[in-house]
Amino acid sequence: MEQSDNGNSIISSGVFNHNVGKYLSVQENSLQNRDAFWSEHARIIDWYSTWTKVLDDSKKPFYKWFKDGKLNVSYNCVDRHLKNNRRNKAAFIWIGENGEEKIVTYQGLYRRVNAFARTLLDSGLGKGDCITIYMPMIIETVVAMLAAARIGVVFTLVFSGFGSDALAERIRDSNSKLLITADGGFRNGKIVDLKKIADEALDKASDIETVIVYKRTGHDIDMKEGRDFWWDKIVKDDFLPVPPEVMDSSDPLYILYTSGTTGKPKGIVHGSGGYSVWVANTLKWAFDPGEDDRWWCAADIGWVTGHSYIVFAPLLLGLTSILYEGSILYPDPSRMWQIVERYGVNQLYTSPTAIRSLMRHGNHYPDACDLSSLKVLGTVGEPINPAAWEWFYKVIGKGRCPVIDTYWQTETGGFIISPSVNLGLPNLKPGSATFPMPSVEPYVLSEEGSPTRNGEKGFLCVKGTWPGMMLTINNDPSRYMDVYFSRFPGYYYSGDYAIQDEEGYFWLLGRADEVLKVSGHRLGTIEIEDALVSVDGIAEAAVFGKPDAVKGDAIVAFVVLREGHHRTPDFVTQTKKIIRESLGPITVPDEIHVVNNLPKTRSGKIMRRVLKAIYLNQVPGDISTLESGATVEEIKEAMDLFRKQNKDLL
Ligand code: WT7
Repeated sequence: MEQSDNGNSIISSGVFNHNVGKYLSVQENSLQNRDAFWSEHARIIDWYSTWTKVLDDSKKPFYKWFKDGKLNVSYNCVDRHLKNNRRNKAAFIWIGENGEEKIVTYQGLYRRVNAFARTLLDSGLGKGDCITIYMPMIIETVVAMLAAARIGVVFTLVFSGFGSDALAERIRDSNSKLLITADGGFRNGKIVDLKKIADEALDKASDIETVIVYKRTGHDIDMKEGRDFWWDKIVKDDFLPVPPEVMDSSDPLYILYTSGTTGKPKGIVHGSGGYSVWVANTLKWAFDPGEDDRWWCAADIGWVTGHSYIVFAPLLLGLTSILYEGSILYPDPSRMWQIVERYGVNQLYTSPTAIRSLMRHGNHYPDACDLSSLKVLGTVGEPINPAAWEWFYKVIGKGRCPVIDTYWQTETGGFIISPSVNLGLPNLKPGSATFPMPSVEPYVLSEEGSPTRNGEKGFLCVKGTWPGMMLTINNDPSRYMDVYFSRFPGYYYSGDYAIQDEEGYFWLLGRADEVLKVSGHRLGTIEIEDALVSVDGIAEAAVFGKPDAVKGDAIVAFVVLREGHHRTPDFVTQTKKIIRESLGPITVPDEIHVVNNLPKTRSGKIMRRVLKAIYLNQVPGDISTLESGATVEEIKEAMDLFRKQNKDLL
């Protein structure tokens, strides 16, 4: 270990910087000879017919990768592996929270996907329709995703920790006709009542005609005659293959909703060809998993990490993936290390929050397990603090395994900035995602849109495009243009702060907008505020994130009550309960404070950052430029007024 000029420790070892020259030449080639580069790398998947153009940017930013190329993603994930010796290879090793184990081979996955695709066809679905999947972390969830892709049906998978309003909103926006769910799921030893939540959502989103229910927990649930069908009853075992639908490269594969700066989540649409090429190549570049390796992406399947790196990328590469159903702290904090030992995991990909929460429990849990199978470690979701990085690197990797800090977003489809084991690792610096993936051109721009000097904080933007880029926002192409491409013309705007150091390394510094990262989950402050003001008695609400040692951001809410309403003794408990049912447990504020008034601009906009500064007892610093539309004087006024009006409450 040595210190770099700017005080960051650098892991300097022959293992980690042996071939960075290859990375540089590949990166340069990808930029200089983009079309030839992607023509070659698109061969990582099988095409029914190839493209007429590698990139059609005539309607940018609505890019078309591999124009007119034809493929089927489900075929690429499953069928093609049956033609070689991957046929009997484990596609998934599934581990239930209660310790159950199921191994599904590529052949087994093929049978299941076909059988379920048949069921979907029999339900009257066809190319272009949309379905919603609200399932726990089980094999059938993957089967449902692949079966939809097989017949050209677009799916939207809703995180099983979301509540009924969040589910209803996604069913409505995606115009889904069919819902796939389970009676329940296991989480921390308890049952999550998925069917009950789904029933509540369906009372609000009435277009669903058919619900398919997988029996996971076996507890009692209501089944609505004529609408609800048990998976096991309607999926036929008499095997009749379903030919994969020939899809265009730019046909949508899925819609995944993510939070932005308004109350309405954005339905990020990912395509078929470019997305598949991107996730398969980036997994190979970054982690370099071998044919006989065991890959474990310990994310939730309901977020983009799970879509891209539990399901699509590993299956496209024909790997063996671990799928773990439950909480990594259940039944105790040795769960993750026991899985690594028992299944000989070679690459482990998780989040800074998970690392911090396991780290808190001490070294004796990992030290009691044999972790020698590990070759590469990875993180995603939030900036990783150097202490967590070092712990992961030393205590888990024993100083042998590089830590791959992958930076990306729901919108980007796959990694866009990440060290690359396959192409040659640079010296790693804890907390830096290092360098861009081939073909990605990131810039740190100032408020005015000019590139910042090294070491200066700015907004992370990307010039041009790459194959994994989203196609659009569902039902809202103009929002796609506004949110991502209007602020800095010619660039994709990520919404993150970053710096680039003297050696060109990228450091991601967190969100620059009203988006929180709570345990790596992306939540919009306005979504939570909207839910709060729908609680009877709450007139106004302001939400911000306070720094939390484990979760990254912890949610703090300030609310103003309606005229005539008083704070009852159970107000906070009741409000939290309502938010839990409506949006889900991860969105429940840690703290809810009742105040007389909120700080606002003269035009009435709530100043969340001012509130946060007051709460954290900070001088508002650069708030004046960030609190849109407010002058320094106005901010001072608002702070004074807030303090005066809430004197007795703070
Ligand atoms: C936001 C995207 C990408 C899969 C999971 C999250 C933050 C993500 C990193 C990283 C610092 C990171 C950013 C980004 N983020 N990875 N390695 N270092 N920050 O996807 O829910 O769309 O969230 O997560 O703030 O914008 P997401």
